[in-house]
Formats: sequence, C-alpha cells, structure tokens
Amino acid sequence: MAVLPIAHVGHPVLRQRAREVTLEELRTPELQQFIDDLVETMHHANGAGLAAIQIHRAIRIVALEVKDNPRYPYKPNIPLTVLVNPVLEPLTAETFLNYEGCLSVPNLRGEVPRFTELSVKALDRHGAPVERVVRGITAGTYQHEVDHLDGNLFLDRVVDTRSLATWDQFKEHHEAAFVERVRAIVARYGS
Ligand code: NI
Repeated sequence: MAVLPIAHVGHPVLRQRAREVTLEELRTPELQQFIDDLVETMHHANGAGLAAIQIHRAIRIVALEVKDNPRYPYKPNIPLTVLVNPVLEPLTAETFLNYEGCLSVPNLRGEVPRFTELSVKALDRHGAPVERVVRGITAGTYQHEVDHLDGNLFLDRVVDTRSLATWDQFKEHHEAAFVERVRAIVARYGS
C-alpha cells in the first residue's frame, strides 16, 4: 500500500466531475490496489473521508471512516466504508450547520448547511450493491465526500464566510459551541 499526495484547493483536478467506475475496472487488481491506497492515504492524514479525486484520480470512489478521530474528536464513529458511484438523495428538507474541514483545504474550516437524512445507493469495493439511510453528523460527512465527486468543495457551500476559521481559531473560539450542537444532533439522530 502507498500514501499518495493529496491535491490542494487551486488544483484543477478538484474541480472536475469524476466519472463513473465500471464493474469491469472495479474488479481489476490495479483498481483494488488503488482503493487500498485511498484508504491508506486517508488513515495517514487522519481524514474522516477521502475521495479518489483528491488523490488526482477523477473517478467516483470515496472512502469514509471515523474511529475516535483526532481531527474531529466529537464525530460519531463510522466503520470503514468504500462507496463506488454513490448517489445521495435527501429524505428531508431539514438541514443543520456542520463545521467542516477538508484535507484539500489546509488549515481552514467553515459552516456548511447539510441535510440531516439521506438515502445512499452505491456499490461496495467488490461491486455489491449498498443501500442505506444515514443521518445527522454522519450524513454531513457523506455529503462532503460525494460533493468532491462533482468538483465541489465545502468552501462553495459556506453561507456565512464570517464562519471561516483556521484550525487553531476554531479550537479556541468555535469548537465548544459546535460540540454542543453536535451533541444535540447525535441525541436526535443517533449519529
Ligand atoms: Ni474534503
């Protein structure tokens, strides 16, 4: 496995629409190796998720995992998940404000509205269909990752640019209030 370089905001690859992956290519050892590298790179950077496009390959694959994450200590855990060709549908018009960061946007966070409940349809890394409903903070993480596949960054969805903060300033001035919000969301949605 290999840790691959992560594209930073300004790199044109992040603004592409990633293309769908065929079952045939998904089953190649090369693509399976690439998925291992995606997961390894996400772990190495302590990401809660990573899209293939962030490591310079514009195909519709994302990895997610939250396991007592030091970058996001308040996030509910998500088991290691690889989604191929994911499609998200909001199940409600209701949104919450998620304070997001991104491995492709170093040292900046900002508040982004995210749907509280989504249906997810995708393939797993072996091509088996995945169907599930995700809620709350976890739904925010899914939306952030799938946004990458359409060339969108969380920055594009920040409604109030005065919420932008470096990681230090977030910790010092915004984290406590946000953690209270997270607790309320987790209490309501279970994730
Ligand atoms: Ni990101």
